[in-house]
Amino acid sequence: EKGGFDHFMLKEIHEQPKAITDTFRGRMLVEENMIKMSSIDDNLDKFLNANRIIIIACGTSWHAGLVGEYLFEDMARIPVEVEYASEFRYRNPIITNKDVVIAISQSGETADTLAAIKLAKSKGAFVYGVCNVVGSSIARETHSGAYTHAGPEIGVASTKAFTTQITVLTLIALKLGKANGSLADHTFKDYLKKMQLIPRQVEKLLKIDEHVKSIAAVYKDATNCLYLGRGFNFPVALEGALKLKEISYIHAEGYPAAEMKHGPIALIDENMPIFVIATNRGHYEKVVSNIQEIKSRAGKIIAVVTEGDTQVREIADHVIEVPDTEEALTPLLTTIPLQLLSYHIAVMLGKNVDQPRNLAKSVTVE
Ligand code: F6R
Repeated sequence: EKGGFDHFMLKEIHEQPKAITDTFRGRMLVEENMIKMSSIDDNLDKFLNANRIIIIACGTSWHAGLVGEYLFEDMARIPVEVEYASEFRYRNPIITNKDVVIAISQSGETADTLAAIKLAKSKGAFVYGVCNVVGSSIARETHSGAYTHAGPEIGVASTKAFTTQITVLTLIALKLGKANGSLADHTFKDYLKKMQLIPRQVEKLLKIDEHVKSIAAVYKDATNCLYLGRGFNFPVALEGALKLKEISYIHAEGYPAAEMKHGPIALIDENMPIFVIATNRGHYEKVVSNIQEIKSRAGKIIAVVTEGDTQVREIADHVIEVPDTEEALTPLLTTIPLQLLSYHIAVMLGKNVDQPRNLAKSVTVE
């Protein structure tokens, strides 16, 4: 059942090329230069006339929502707010029938997300679901939606659900961007071509597993870690930290790289590993200067860089290369080594990777 892998989590990490492909298959038509999603077409006026999009979710799905915020604003120029479902629902939120709510949930059963959907509906919002489990409560409660085609996710730590959620959000952002004229035709086309390459690039990344494992061996006894990223990769930093916390029980925090100097920099010493996402398109020079700040305080730097990078390689203690793509698509790649890293650390520490203590696959209590 684990398909030759030691754990479901590792199997599911390795399933991502297929899961991403399955999620865009039939929707992303590169030859025709179009994205076909009837759930969007049927409600296009609602999306295009929306005052804003409010994304609600919990945990890893909330991190995917944050990537969605960057995607929608960048590609479709629609204002987005991303909310923890649990905060949203208890705040007497201001929602009207001019708002579109997107609820993201792997299981489709998360109690807070479900309750937030009901609240948004009662205030007249149009609610669109992005779920993995077919026929789940959230899939049924939403007005419309798109499934992620990740297949069953058994490991408690979410992996392929996250990357397929980002895939669906990317397709929607591209489609809306094309529909409202925010994306030039050739830009749209270029994105589709780059998107099509992603599964192969993820496959390539999975092959550097031994390299990631060797880095895991160096830092497995750390008691605190920082994860830094900017722009599209800020949510990836949050997700990287969450994965480490969940399965290895090592305390970790994700931060926007520039926020480091507003507090967390005080934590840095020679015992502190800092994982920095420093791909070459996203504010690269700024991230390089953040890395220099860490270096001068003797922190250990593990950098996720674009293939061929030389500048960060000179300063970092370790580098992990990811293939080149558009900045907006980098989360689909930079996430992978961080998943592998957490996995290997947890295995080396003898933790129960697939069923970490105190956690459940779907949180059906509020
Ligand atoms: C993290 C994790 C949780 C879930 C969260 C939401 O690895 O599994 O943080 O992401 O409980 O679950 P869904 O997406 O099922 O609503």
